[in-house]
Amino acid sequence: MSDDVGRRAFLGVGAGAVAARALAAEAPAPAKGVKIIGVACSPRKGKTTAAAVQAVLDAAKAASPAVEVELIELADMNINGAVAAGVPLPAGQEDDFLKLVPKLSDPRVGGIIVGSPVYFGSMSALCKAFLDRWVAFRKANFPLSNKVAGVVAVGGMRNGGQELTVQCIQAALMCHEMLVVGDGRPTAHRGATVWNQGDDITKDELGLSTAKNLGRRVAEVALRMAGIAG
Ligand SMILES: Cc1cc2nc3c(=O)[nH]c(=O)nc-3n(C[C@H](O)[C@H](O)[C@H](O)COP(=O)(O)O)c2cc1C
Repeated sequence: MSDDVGRRAFLGVGAGAVAARALAAEAPAPAKGVKIIGVACSPRKGKTTAAAVQAVLDAAKAASPAVEVELIELADMNINGAVAAGVPLPAGQEDDFLKLVPKLSDPRVGGIIVGSPVYFGSMSALCKAFLDRWVAFRKANFPLSNKVAGVVAVGGMRNGGQELTVQCIQAALMCHEMLVVGDGRPTAHRGATVWNQGDDITKDELGLSTAKNLGRRVAEVALRMAGIAG
């Protein structure tokens, strides 16, 4: 994809068909395996949300040698949510969202984990800005369609709003025809709900079990979608 086409498509400029053609042209041949990307949407780098997303990814990787994982942290990135509504960035400026587009829409990516801290009962502003920018994917012929999605939320209280946060994020992911899954058995509910106790999630056995079951479940469905035995 030329820089110009990519930029225009993902800024929402130009027809969706142009963006779709650009994506198709750059699609590499599918490899024998699936990649699962985890995105930690906390403004604090390397803290509990990143640790929880990593726990989900570790479980996904442990599910099969055909699974490759990558953690992306949005901390330190500049993602301007207003661009989603058509408000242009100041002339000559670019934010970091465009860098993430090829990674997320890569056809080898079979699953995406989104992790957010709980901020007053919902996702962080950074997470919302990031997900709002996904409007670009709708304009570009839904490249995330049929990728598996899993969500993890980390709060400072055991029941501080993790479930609602998970569900708010899941609602956004469904707008992209993603296959949203919850944590698998035996916990088997909406996703991973983790409790941060003093910037540490390792004492939260229950929360970590939901993270583990989520990772395994995302891998299982992503492998099945790719036609690979788990
Ligand atoms: C503005 C703000 C609001 C918060 N609101 C909640 C909340 O409603 N419920 C909760 O359990 N924790 C809440 N917390 C705590 C964070 O969710 C918790 O510390 C989380 O682990 C932070 O993630 P991080 O370590 O990746 O930054 C809040 C923290 C901040 C900064």
